[in-house]
Amino acid sequence: MKNAHAPYSNFHVGAAFLTTKGEIFAGCNVENASYGLSNCAERTAIFTAVAQLGPKVEIRAIAVVNNHGAPCSPCGACRQVIYEFGPEAKILFQGKKAWKKSHITELLPEGFRLQ
Ligand code: THU
Repeated sequence: MKNAHAPYSNFHVGAAFLTTKGEIFAGCNVENASYGLSNCAERTAIFTAVAQLGPKVEIRAIAVVNNHGAPCSPCGACRQVIYEFGPEAKILFQGKKAWKKSHITELLPEGFRLQ
């Protein structure tokens, strides 16, 4: 979260995930003046892991924080990316009143698979 590039929203997000092998990868959101090109913290973390380890990355759990202490579950695009690398992933995020823990398939029922 401290490394986020979020001058447009001022919403700084960090995500860290644990692989099924016990490694931890972190990422932050990286915004762009052409807003639609912005990348969320969750996808930054996952893409960083793939760049380092290759495509066999498997997500066991992923946690998300932000600099406003605001409720913040992963966006729809990130849910689909999490599902691809973690069909059994646990998601930890801040809810309205307390931290929440969900399974990826609760957040993304019927995730897309190309097979
Ligand atoms: N954002 C994330 O990085 N992760 C989330 O789970 C929700 C939203 C970012 C995207 C954008 O840079 C900023 O937060 C405001 O939407």
